[in-house]
Amino acid sequence: MSDFFSLKFHDNKLIFIDQTKLPLVEEYITTTNYERIAEAIEKLEIRGAPAIGIAAAYALALSIKGESQGLDEKFNIAYERLVRTRPTAVNLFWALDSIKRTYEANKNSATLFFLLINKAMQIHKNDINQCEAIAKNGVELLKDNSTILTHCNTGKLATGGEGTAFNIIKKGFELGKVKFVYADETRPLLQGSRLTAFELSKANIPFQILIDSAAALLISQKKINAVIVGADRIASNGDTANKIGTFNLALLCKQFNIPFYIAAPVSTIDTSISSGEEIEIEMRSTDELSFIKGTQITKTDYDAYTPAFDVTPYYLITAIITDKKVNKPPYSF
Ligand code: MRU
Repeated sequence: MSDFFSLKFHDNKLIFIDQTKLPLVEEYITTTNYERIAEAIEKLEIRGAPAIGIAAAYALALSIKGESQGLDEKFNIAYERLVRTRPTAVNLFWALDSIKRTYEANKNSATLFFLLINKAMQIHKNDINQCEAIAKNGVELLKDNSTILTHCNTGKLATGGEGTAFNIIKKGFELGKVKFVYADETRPLLQGSRLTAFELSKANIPFQILIDSAAALLISQKKINAVIVGADRIASNGDTANKIGTFNLALLCKQFNIPFYIAAPVSTIDTSISSGEEIEIEMRSTDELSFIKGTQITKTDYDAYTPAFDVTPYYLITAIITDKKVNKPPYSF
């Protein structure tokens, strides 16, 4: 299969690519079951802040499909299930609350299910447009012939559209502004070496996978012109939660005087919190360190520290690129 998609809603079913199997197997799962979508988000079959929000919106809408009795109870059970799937990406809560508002406003309507699906489709479509706007705004910051370092996966797989940070890189490549990309492997679940490498390869962008711990060496050799990453939640002051390891890169950029950019839709900004201290950081199972693809690589009784995200303080961020504009410090959202 030459092209791929992360999520598609067709014929009242959600179709998603199983990101845990990429890049070795391109397998799509079709479901109408919100519980199956909740599991997919927990297991990272569906992942990336915007994609999680979109999938959860479709899931919550699907939870009342064909139901006529006890709607409130069914809807609330599904909401409570979905809202607990992952704690850090604000897009999940934002999208679920948006569906909930549509539900509350239309619960006596005969076309309730279709109204909820339409709302989910609107969230999906907005994300596609936001990805384009982010790329347009972000590409302006790039110098010709840049080599970019990125972390985790922020492309088509992580969003409803063409990506956030990844789409800036892709547009930059098309315009001749980006000539090479280093994709951090992104331990422990390897979103970089599996998913970003897959997307870079599909887009014919020259790249190498980078050992996470090799970033200091590479940056000190002046081989990187800019670091661009995505975000899972941005506080009002600009503090940004993103995949674990992002903070390390921001510190390196400061040390070596390299621009460090965050790219995200405005739906990733959580204006209800003043700083990153209020962001809940997801802790993952230690099994994700003890096993790789079901093969045990260390003893399960060795304890491990397993945060999925870190918070980069605002003062290390050169600019926050959104679909609306390029925000420069001091940040105030
Ligand atoms: O745990 P993940 O793979 O869902 O984490 C994803 C990230 O940290 C991404 O960088 C972020 O969601 C931005 S997606 C456009």
